Amino acid sequence: MRLSLRFVLPLLLVLAAIAYGVAPLVDRLTLGWFVRDLDMRSALIANTIQEPLQEQLAAGRKAKTGEFFNRITQDERLFAVGYCAAPASPVLASRSLPAQIRCNDLERWQGQGATAHLLASAQGPLHVAVKRMPSEAAPEGQLVLVHDMSFVTRRSKETQQYVFYAFMALGAIISLVTVIIAQLSWRGWMAGMHSLLRGEGLLRRPVLDALPEFKPIERDLQRLVRELEATTRARDESQITWTPEALRTILHTELRGEDVIVVSNREPYIHQRRGERIEVQRPASGLVTALEPIMRACSGTWVAHGSGSADREVVDKSDCVAVPPESPAYQLRRVWLTPEEEAGYYYGFANEGLWPLCHIAHVRPTFRSGDWAQYVAVNRKFAQAVVRQAKTKNPVVLVQDYHLALLPKMIRDELPDATIITFWHIPWPNPESFAICPWREDILAGMLGSSILGFHTQFHCNNFVDTVDRFLEARVDRESFNVSFGGKSTAVQRYPISIAWPPEPEMMAQDVAQCRTSVRELNDLPAEHKLGVGVDRLDYTKGIVERFRAIEQLLELNPHWIGRFTFVQIAAPTRSGIDEYQHHEAQVRAMATRINTRFERQGPPPIVLKVEHHEPRAVYAYFRAADLCFVSSLHDGMNLVAKEFIAARDDERGVLVLSEFTGAARELPEALIVNPYDADQCAAALHLALTMPEAEQRDRMRLMRGLVAEYNVFRWAGRMLLDAAAMRRRSRLASQKGRARL
Ligand code: F6P
Repeated sequence: MRLSLRFVLPLLLVLAAIAYGVAPLVDRLTLGWFVRDLDMRSALIANTIQEPLQEQLAAGRKAKTGEFFNRITQDERLFAVGYCAAPASPVLASRSLPAQIRCNDLERWQGQGATAHLLASAQGPLHVAVKRMPSEAAPEGQLVLVHDMSFVTRRSKETQQYVFYAFMALGAIISLVTVIIAQLSWRGWMAGMHSLLRGEGLLRRPVLDALPEFKPIERDLQRLVRELEATTRARDESQITWTPEALRTILHTELRGEDVIVVSNREPYIHQRRGERIEVQRPASGLVTALEPIMRACSGTWVAHGSGSADREVVDKSDCVAVPPESPAYQLRRVWLTPEEEAGYYYGFANEGLWPLCHIAHVRPTFRSGDWAQYVAVNRKFAQAVVRQAKTKNPVVLVQDYHLALLPKMIRDELPDATIITFWHIPWPNPESFAICPWREDILAGMLGSSILGFHTQFHCNNFVDTVDRFLEARVDRESFNVSFGGKSTAVQRYPISIAWPPEPEMMAQDVAQCRTSVRELNDLPAEHKLGVGVDRLDYTKGIVERFRAIEQLLELNPHWIGRFTFVQIAAPTRSGIDEYQHHEAQVRAMATRINTRFERQGPPPIVLKVEHHEPRAVYAYFRAADLCFVSSLHDGMNLVAKEFIAARDDERGVLVLSEFTGAARELPEALIVNPYDADQCAAALHLALTMPEAEQRDRMRLMRGLVAEYNVFRWAGRMLLDAAAMRRRSRLASQKGRARL
């Protein structure tokens, strides 16, 4: 039924078009053409007969003229000829001239401006042309030429028939094509589109299998649809709620579940032997804090130095162990270092060279060629581990930090199609400061093996680009922040790191009141005692000495706080194999003792120094128990302790005193921002914090919590992964274009 309708409908439409449009149009056109033809013919005949006719008229031979006219009208078309000497005179004509043509009508016809007059007669339609033919004897003489037009009607009918048949044939073809297309396209294409949307391909399998030449087209179409989906998908990161789930979605949609490998020196879980038991430790590391939730979300592989005393005991034959131990989510691949390698690469070049070089903390960097050699060798060892771990030839590799500056280039040499995102967790100094590194060019070239190179702040990006510009033959585009070096381009971008939000429920298990009570009890402090807290690795860049000096100044300027305020400094031992760190520890310990002795009165001491490792849960209890947290880094890429303190305070109380030399200070203006070198200013900030009304604490804390929630670590990682995905798409398109040109 539907089929016959599809056939008949176009036909009916064609018929209607013929009846109401085409036939009258054809009539009008053919009539016009023939009238023009007859006009021309009349003019031709008039010209031809003018001379003989005038001779006969001049000779006064009227009978002869009539004969002459009769002869001419033997022509099949020329129906009659007449001559009027004047309007009032009788017409001199051939026998066939219709009676209704009279001499006194001619003037009127000519006055109508037409070239010819159409006349209906018993013989059919007639074409009457009047031509002026003056002579001396008859200056108003006019010649009348009458043509038979019945042939026009005949021809018009024939033409109409041809047009009718042609249009009917056309209508039938259109109907047929409509039916075929409807059949093919409606069912076939709809099914094709459905299967395409199901991800099966444009055409149904049997058709495709029968037509293998369509396969490349199908592949291209599928890719095109995916590219289109990807580019039109909301890339507005502010519209995304950044959670582990959002990260997983990005990995599956944008990177289609690609192979993700993280590489860092520090491992996220350290297995330590304690007598008969193996204990799992989580290191005090901002890097681990940031990356661990990401790896849980994307289940990739984390390659890191196996530094724990029981690390070898728990790995499989590929040196891998599934972590976190309580609910495994990803693989930790351990790289083993000899004591010499660790001494040269980690303690030596990374922490006595690059660390003080990048932190302007007034500790001189030490560069030894032996350390450099170990640094190169260990970077190579990590590169080999990454290449071995890669499941594809183009994995997404996230290289972390200053321990592995050479790794990006080494990986790039082995896996040219890898997407390498390097994140530099510490500051980048200005070119003058960096210039003292004897291997500055190698370090820069190594880092420029990255596809994307991230820093915490724009200031560090600027410093890096300036350094490259100064020391390498590279093209630096300051508008897009792209560096082209050795035929390879690196995007230098700012990605301020953060922490997981919301914090793990177990961190917040104890409510704030309980934390206040338990922490004070643990430290022999009275219930209403004011408490400040600092949580750091025992590192000279953290400004612990300056912090203690500020506390001393507070007590000196406001003795009211003596015995009423205690500052608990949790200091995780770190890099204790390095002299500078040993001196620093000794200095910190001595200073705490001196200040405590100086303000020794009845009651608790001003400073409690805990040089020991604390698990995150214990650290959170301190954060929740404290009235203030003091972060006084002399130079810090970001400082996640500041953000963790904020995350811990779901009661919207507590004050953050924050060094202006941290990356965090740029994001958290509601903290009390201080210069850690200015003891008076810091002391004033501590006093302000201790006396700040609860309403103001709430207002400040609420704003800071809003920022950390919004700019959490999932967003940090998500932004890098989105940029990596976009980069991969662009390079795929570029290689397609390249192929097309070939
Ligand atoms: O700040 C740079 C950094 O790598 C941090 O990410 C981390 O907190 C710290 O250094 C790690 O120190 P280490 O691994 O030497 O203990």
